[in-house]
Amino acid sequence: MIIGVPKEIKPQEYRVGLTPANVAELVGLGHSVLVEHDAGVHVGFSDEAYVASGARIAVDPAEAYSAELVVKVKEPQAPEIPLLRDGQILFSYLHLAPEPALTQGLLERGVVGIAYETVEDRNGHRPLLIPMSELAGRIATQAGATALQMEYGGRGVLLGGVPGVPPANVVVVGGGIVGLQAARVAMGMGAEITILDISHDRLRYLDEVYGPRLKTVYSGAGALREYIVGADLVVAAALRSGYRSPVLIDAGMVRDMKPGSVIVDVAIDQGGCVETSRPTTHHAPTFIEHEVVHYCVANMPSACARTATMALTNATLPYVRLLADLGYQHALSADSGFAMGLNVYRGHITNEGVAESLGQGWKRPEEIF
Ligand SMILES: NC(=O)c1ccc[n+]([C@@H]2O[C@H](COP(=O)([O-])OP(=O)(O)OC[C@H]3O[C@@H](n4cnc5c(N)ncnc54)[C@H](O)[C@@H]3O)[C@@H](O)[C@H]2O)c1
Repeated sequence: MIIGVPKEIKPQEYRVGLTPANVAELVGLGHSVLVEHDAGVHVGFSDEAYVASGARIAVDPAEAYSAELVVKVKEPQAPEIPLLRDGQILFSYLHLAPEPALTQGLLERGVVGIAYETVEDRNGHRPLLIPMSELAGRIATQAGATALQMEYGGRGVLLGGVPGVPPANVVVVGGGIVGLQAARVAMGMGAEITILDISHDRLRYLDEVYGPRLKTVYSGAGALREYIVGADLVVAAALRSGYRSPVLIDAGMVRDMKPGSVIVDVAIDQGGCVETSRPTTHHAPTFIEHEVVHYCVANMPSACARTATMALTNATLPYVRLLADLGYQHALSADSGFAMGLNVYRGHITNEGVAESLGQGWKRPEEIF
């Protein structure tokens, strides 16, 4: 199969869909790989390294998108949509639930869109979202700690405090992969941490593993308000797979937070958990609303793009191999968890969460194959 790897064009997106080592493996299996000129340059992978691994260099995006299977990182941006075509496989993060225009574009182009973030393994975990959530969770606390500093509009609180001055209150909403990693870094920095979640199993797990160092609270409306308004730093990371993020923190709660406190809305890629959030970029990561600093970067792992590229491609490569070796029909039919990744198929939405969030109809993948 011919596999294309375009250069990412989302602002400050430096990750790349395949490394030279991945290319060597795919070429060794008899596939052809077309890597767009300079696709990996920001993370230390030169065109020469890709050529030495057996890739051909595509001179422009159109050539990279001429492939049968396109492997990338972030959802297609507006100029990329016209380059996609009917029946072509697009394997990437897609985050369609909050994006009606992007979804419509992919439906009109007729692509077979498989979203990293909704692929599941045999245990119901999301193996292609987890590595980036691990990065984003750790970055969230670092970014939040920085935003709490005076020059960024923060209230000038050090997460860990100092002897004689108590530490900051960090409140994490959604104690999944992002939430736990954010809490671990905050714990390491000496902050006081509370995690709110609606999964009793998850709260029980967090309590068993971390004990009294981590306060766990069931995320009912009353508790949520109480903890949010008392927080110095809020990390928002609730998710229902495929769906737009639940909006858990309304503008009223934000208004009642302490001036200079900080919200890091990691869930912004799925629309965000905070009513006052809107996507930002690494170049201008924060804005202030109701005197609260908001950090809402939708591609946080790109801040550490080399680590992120290695972590992402470690997870995606086995799936790329399946698609290239078997074709999408066989690869998806053989693995119902992989088929959960199918979000759009030749003009149809094929994920319940995406369809419901956008108020549209959908077809189950098994109705199609
Ligand atoms: N901004 C970025 O760059 C970036 C990077 C990686 C992940 N993310 C996003 O971060 C979010 C979290 O990802 P994750 O991998 O941690 O997901 P996860 O599924 O591991 O965790 C989500 C948690 O939210 C909890 N939850 C669901 N509804 C809730 C509610 N109403 N109140 C409280 N908790 C609730 C779930 O029980 C679960 O524990 C996702 O939206 C993901 O796309 C963003």
